[in-house]
This record gives sequence, C-alpha cells and structure tokens, in this order.
Amino acid sequence: MTALPPDYDSDPGRWQSWESPQDVHEIIAPDLRGPVLDVGCGEGRLASILAELARRRGVVGGSSPLGQAPFGDGARWVGVDSSPTQLAANPYRPVVLADMRALPFRDGAFTEVTHLWCLYHLDDPAPAIAEAARVLAPAGRYYACTAARDSDPEIMYEGYPRSSFDAEEAPEIVASAFDEVDAQRWDGKFFPLRTREEVRAYCRHNFVPAERAEEVAVPLWLTKRGVLVRAGKPRGRPWPCGDRFPAGPSGRCGGEAVRNLLFRPGRDGPDRARTEDRMGEQVPYVGYLTLGSDPHLVASECRSCGSLFLDRRNACANCGAREFSPRRLASEGVVRAFTIVHRATPDVKVPYVSAIVDLDGGGVVKANIVDVDPVPDQVTPGMRVALTTFGVGTDSAGTEAVGFGYRPA
Ligand SMILES: C[S@@+](CC[C@H](N)C(=O)[O-])C[C@H]1O[C@@H](n2cnc3c(N)ncnc32)[C@H](O)[C@@H]1O
Ligand SMILES: [Zn+2]
Repeated sequence: MTALPPDYDSDPGRWQSWESPQDVHEIIAPDLRGPVLDVGCGEGRLASILAELARRRGVVGGSSPLGQAPFGDGARWVGVDSSPTQLAANPYRPVVLADMRALPFRDGAFTEVTHLWCLYHLDDPAPAIAEAARVLAPAGRYYACTAARDSDPEIMYEGYPRSSFDAEEAPEIVASAFDEVDAQRWDGKFFPLRTREEVRAYCRHNFVPAERAEEVAVPLWLTKRGVLVRAGKPRGRPWPCGDRFPAGPSGRCGGEAVRNLLFRPGRDGPDRARTEDRMGEQVPYVGYLTLGSDPHLVASECRSCGSLFLDRRNACANCGAREFSPRRLASEGVVRAFTIVHRATPDVKVPYVSAIVDLDGGGVVKANIVDVDPVPDQVTPGMRVALTTFGVGTDSAGTEAVGFGYRPA
C-alpha cells in the first residue's frame, strides 16, 4: 500500500492533462450550506460549482463561491491545499496554504469539511480525517471520496499499487474519526475516452504507463468504481443542542463572523498560513457559463429522465419531473447546423456565424462560431469546435462580463 506522489508542484501538467467530465463535486455541492472547508481544494472544482449554484440561488456579493452569509460576514467557502501551484491556478478565494494534517483553524469552525480525491496522497489518512473532525461543527457533515482498486479495469494493469485510501477501506478509515458513516458506492460505465489522445491524457493523469494507451481500442468506455463517504458526529463529541454553529470565542452560539472563527490563536497565527482575498473581476454573461481556469458550461439535468437544460427550469419539458442536478458539459462538440447573420440591431457587428452545437457526451447549445471568417466555406456541419470565452463589456466598477462561443477545435 502506497501513497500516490503529490507532484502538483513538480509536474503540474500531469494533473492538468485530464479532467473527469462528471464528478462527485456535482453530487455534494447542492447539500453544502457553508462555511465549507474544501481540503485539498486543488484548482477549485468544488468552488466553481458552488459559485454557479450560488448564482442561481440569487446569492450575490462576496469573494467566496457561496456568497455572503445570511448571518455574519464570513467566508462561506475556504480552500486549503499544500501546493502553491494548485492554489495559484485556483481562481477562488480565500485559500490557505497548509497541510491537511495540521489545519490552521479553530475547533468546530466549519459546517462542512470535504476531502475530495486527496486522502490517497498521505501514507496514513487517519490523522487528516481526525483534523477534519476537529474543525467541523458538532452537527457538521464530512465528505470524502476515492476510487476503488478495481476501477477502470479496461485500462488498469495487473499490479497497479493499492493506495492508502482505496474505496474498499475508505468508510472504515473514516469511521476512525466519526461515529456515523454512510458509504455511497458507484459502479458503472460512465463516459468514454473518445480519442487516442484522450486515452493518453487519461493515462498520464492516472499514473498508468503510456504503453497502455496504445494497446486499447477507442472509444474506450471505463467502468468507474469508487465511493463517496458521508459522515457526521465526530467520535467522542455529543450532538449539540440544535445550534448550527459552535460557541465562538465569546461563548455565544453562532453570530460571530466566520472569519473570526478561522485561525486558532497562539498555535496557528496568521504567520503559519497565508490567506488571500480577492474580489472576482469577471462575471459570466449567462448563468450556465462557469469561469475560472477551465471555463465550461453547466446544465440542469433532469434527475428522472436525464434531459439537459441550459436555463433554470421548474419542471422538465420532457417528463415533467421537478428535480434537477447540475451537470458539467463537455467543452468540445460538433456543429449541427449554422447560419450567417447579416442583419442585426445597430450595436451588433455583422456578419457573424450563429450555430447549433452538439456537445460531446450530451447537451445542445446555440452559440456563435468565432475565430473564423463568416463565409459559408469556412464553416461546415460536423466541424469540431471547442468552447472559448471573451469579454463582452465592462461596467463602471471595472467588472468585466464574459461571454462564450465556439472556435474550430
Ligand atoms: C487529486 S487533487 C484533488 C483536487 C480537488 N479536491 C478536486 O477534487 O478536484 C489532490 C489535491 O490534494 C492536495 N494535497 C496533497 N497532499 C496534501 C496535503 N498533505 N495537504 C493539503 N493538500 C494536499 C494536492 O496539492 C492536490 O491539489
Ligand atoms: Zn425529465
């Protein structure tokens, strides 16, 4: 059993080479109310989804993805990571450079703590889970996820090493710090790697020898197996009287600005951890566009029939169901149909190419095709395109609105 090498500073390209089109972040984000501590936050994937949800709920203001608290002025999302490179690539704030085994926060400061795809980097994850339990409010919720040893059998090779936090043992390891542990396992073919290039990127990302990428047939559907562990009630601590927050320094329950709950005085002064606060200078032009280091669209997926909608719906137009989950859409696709627009209102520059794009893995978007001459022989049905973003205007406060389109891939 080994810990996976955390090479995020020595080889950032390895981690960035591939990103799962769907992930547990989408599952847990709607349950998080904050303040949430995102431990091993990396480049901010959870934060980007929280930001999108907050925007849809109409929460405005604040530099944090959950926006301003309805109680107090504190941050609603806080990221922690030990990699300066990852934090530099993470556009969300505040973030704290720290080791997850020694969190620079007070006991009980957070309502939720997440350990998403990170505990296998430690030889022994238990002390980090105990730290998470310590900084969690008495009625708080804990989340961790990881893959199973027999995940991705289509590409894994004989002898791929066990990690220190495989799905097989994860619930038991979490139970070392929590009394109430629930495991939600997944096992199914989720998405294909469509091209040899994608398989190569996937292998690099997952420490699979490069030769394997050349041996398999594409498209390659992977059987994903893993677990999301949810836990509450840290060991040895009673449930509280019903207050959502623990006593602050003054002994009152709640009411303290969350920021005041963060650093443990004495032992972990601000010299031990670095926080950065920065207001976002860009806002997406439409709600379903998520900005950040990796801009992408997020659709509402009907939980009943899987239909995708790019705007907020009260009910599914296909089956009438009323429950939706956010789903990240692929950033590449093909042009299904297009038209070249020659007449528009005076403030719109013509001609431009307006197209219907079928995204890889599902989702249909109407958007402009940019970076091409707006003439018929430059655009063809079936042409591969990739998402691109651009500024569409800046307000008097200097905030830039960002729109999206597609360019030839
Ligand atoms: C696979 S990435 C996951 C990032 C993010 N949670 C996600 O799901 O997209 C693992 C992250 O854990 C961080 N990490 C590794 N060891 C750590 C440690 N001891 N303390 C804090 N963060 C650590 C890495 O720097 C990296 O950003
Ligand atoms: Zn439906």
